[in-house]
Amino acid sequence: MRRWLTPGGLVCLAVVLWGLTSVSAHNVPQMRQVEGWYRNGPTATALATLQIPRGAPALAGGTTGGPVSNGLGPIRDFLEGRRLFERETFGGNGRTCETCHSETTGTVSPEDAQARFRKNRRDPLFVHDGSDDDDGDGFGDGRHFTRMKSEATVLMRIPLHSNVTVKNDPAARVVTIARGIPTTLNTPALDKVLMLDGRQETLEDQALGAITDHAQATRPVQRRELEQIAAFQKLAPRFFTSFALELFSLGGPAPRLPLGRTDSEKRGRRFFEDLPPDFSVTPPNFKVGACAACHSGPLLNQTNQFLPLPVPPGSRFQTVLVSEFSTLRNPAKARTFVFHNQVNDVLDGNQDGIIEITSTDPGHALITGEADDIANGTFNQGNAFKISPLRGIRKTGPYFHDNSAKTLEDVAEHYRQFFLIVSDAPDDDPDQGPVIVLTDQDKKDIVAFLKLLE
Ligand code: HEC
Ligand code: HEC
Repeated sequence: MRRWLTPGGLVCLAVVLWGLTSVSAHNVPQMRQVEGWYRNGPTATALATLQIPRGAPALAGGTTGGPVSNGLGPIRDFLEGRRLFERETFGGNGRTCETCHSETTGTVSPEDAQARFRKNRRDPLFVHDGSDDDDGDGFGDGRHFTRMKSEATVLMRIPLHSNVTVKNDPAARVVTIARGIPTTLNTPALDKVLMLDGRQETLEDQALGAITDHAQATRPVQRRELEQIAAFQKLAPRFFTSFALELFSLGGPAPRLPLGRTDSEKRGRRFFEDLPPDFSVTPPNFKVGACAACHSGPLLNQTNQFLPLPVPPGSRFQTVLVSEFSTLRNPAKARTFVFHNQVNDVLDGNQDGIIEITSTDPGHALITGEADDIANGTFNQGNAFKISPLRGIRKTGPYFHDNSAKTLEDVAEHYRQFFLIVSDAPDDDPDQGPVIVLTDQDKKDIVAFLKLLE
């Protein structure tokens, strides 16, 4: 019965995903040294030398590195942080942080992009990585804007882990992947994992990357400025979906799940309760807690103890098959990534330490250099992404790392298909169907509850 929980269920799931990602073994192509990945910026070398020490205290006193002693220091820093976030272009292409992280939603939707295009075709949203990559060289052409207007995705240049090469382009050390803009609501103050693939360690590193890549800065960036931007993002009310969340960031009580008023909202809540499946009924109800298994904790962005996979509660990366489905829909947009030195290379019958993944976006695996978690059933690397926080979710569409779900209804339909696959019976038990089949009513209930999350 408890298919996810049985070894057979895990193997079944592993085999399905194996098939979806089409993995195979091959010889090791020659590895190359990392090449610079800031092709467009004249200041690249200067900026690349700027290192932010890990764990540097926010609001540290500029070049001296000491704490700000003057009582007005934090206020001045906050105001300067606001100016930098909203108005500073660093001598680049005209973009500021706010170009992509709007005040109200922390992101940009296709509707926003279309409205901005109607108002001003020269809006810096559309320059550089906001424009189409017509010739496939990995850079926007600066002239066509179809992708931004229809999907609101940005061309991200992602450095490859030293274990990873691209099959048809073995010299490549960077790949360009179109990704949606995750909201800056709640994340800066409350989410330790930064970027959809978790590749940045601190807000300061993140801001430096954005200024260099998205804004194409031509003047040096001071460490102090990065700290001021970080401080502003952690404190200003515009970066929180509710007062309760802002209080929580300052040490107040953790926000609870809304209770729901209508029957539909209350039924939707059942999917988000930290509970195991209900075995007191026949057949057991596996829908109870089905979303909470990954969307638990104050921000609904971590796994709980009921996720039927061998990952500890509180883990932050999983795949919900977004890249897998997208690869099936758009095979031409997928690339084959070759992962070398894989200790778990056991499923393809050729244990040469090489695993290939064909995917539109392998996510976290490009950063960890490990794709082999399908064998151990943890699903927290290959095609895995940061588990999205869900507070304020009704305002921040489109959804998923590629903006492929335009509405919460699309998200619910995505999860209907996801659960049909992951909760299906093992192959040796073909008479039994999947144990989590979301009905139209379930999908409505889930959407009704998601809209309550503040
Ligand atoms: C061209 C649009 C663009 C600009 C300009 C931009 N960002 Fe972003 N931002 C993105 C995208 C796209 C991502 C996610 C990329 C990824 O995960 O690969 C992101 C991610 C982030 C994240 C992490 C969010 C999360 O959920 O992990 C933060 C914080 C952030 N940006 C802050 C900033 C700051 C501060 C600036 C200005 C210094 C800035 N951004 C400028 C598009 C932009
Ligand atoms: C196995 C873990 C897991 C389960 C179970 C799960 N999610 Fe997710 N959820 C994720 C991950 C990981 C992402 C990010 C996926 C991506 O972008 O590729 C995500 C993304 C989302 C998003 C989009 C957020 C955004 O800002 O783009 C919504 C909404 C969501 N989940 C709702 C749900 C609902 C509703 C359920 C139950 C029906 C559910 N999730 C079950 C892991 C999970």
